Amino acid sequence: MPISLNNVSYSYKGKYQTVRAVDGVSYDFEPGKCYAIIGKSGSGKTTLLSLMAGLDLPTEGEILVDGKSTKDWDRNKMRRDAVSVIYQNYNLFPLLTVQENIQYPLSLKKMPKKEMTSLALEVRKRVELPEAYDKRLPRHLSGGEQQRVAIARTLAQGCKIILADEPTGNLDSANTRNIVEILCSLAHDEGCTVIIVTHDTSVVGQADIVLQMKDGSLI
Ligand SMILES: Nc1ncnc2c1ncn2[C@@H]1O[C@H](COP(=O)(O)OP(=O)(O)OP(=O)(O)O)[C@@H](O)[C@H]1O
Ligand SMILES: [Mg+2]
Repeated sequence: MPISLNNVSYSYKGKYQTVRAVDGVSYDFEPGKCYAIIGKSGSGKTTLLSLMAGLDLPTEGEILVDGKSTKDWDRNKMRRDAVSVIYQNYNLFPLLTVQENIQYPLSLKKMPKKEMTSLALEVRKRVELPEAYDKRLPRHLSGGEQQRVAIARTLAQGCKIILADEPTGNLDSANTRNIVEILCSLAHDEGCTVIIVTHDTSVVGQADIVLQMKDGSLI
């Protein structure tokens, strides 16, 4: 699915001051490509990603997800069916097993149990985690493994747009390479639109297109 930004701005309005965190960004992100967004701390990367995820609406301009403005999307539907977000701290449910974590979005979709189990198994294989992990809790996994579970969950969900905010921030270089390879393969093999916010120069080397944010603008 494509995601297009048309002259998007966002301001945080405080009592004493207004911060224009995103300032007139226009860009078309295309399916099948893996994008890296780099930029200094405070340049507006997370704010931009949150707008694309539909967590908030732009104060000016609009964002089209598959041709439809984020203000017209049912937010729950958009998050369930179109856009998924991967975070630095993995956001797994600590009391659910690996398999249950992966199946969670499928149970929201009310997928039959048998189908759910076989899909969870398939995506767990794709991120190269062994079968024995199905019954483990997230805290018994390494950081890289937890991030792969989070990616498997996204894969199971079948989202066409994947947004990742510093997904490799807690990982060593070997795990970073592996995670970014998996994310890029989702773009190249499955036609997903993958956008990764990162400070990591090795991620930049693996992406198809590198964009830089500076003072709220994309350059
Ligand atoms: N909730 C908020 N209220 C007010 N200002 C905010 C809020 N969140 C972010 N900002 C400001 O908006 C600007 C952009 O912040 P943002 O978090 O998008 O930057 P970033 O590029 O993701 O930085 P980092 O690399 O450190 O994660 C910064 O000046 C920040 O101080
Ligand atoms: Mg940030």
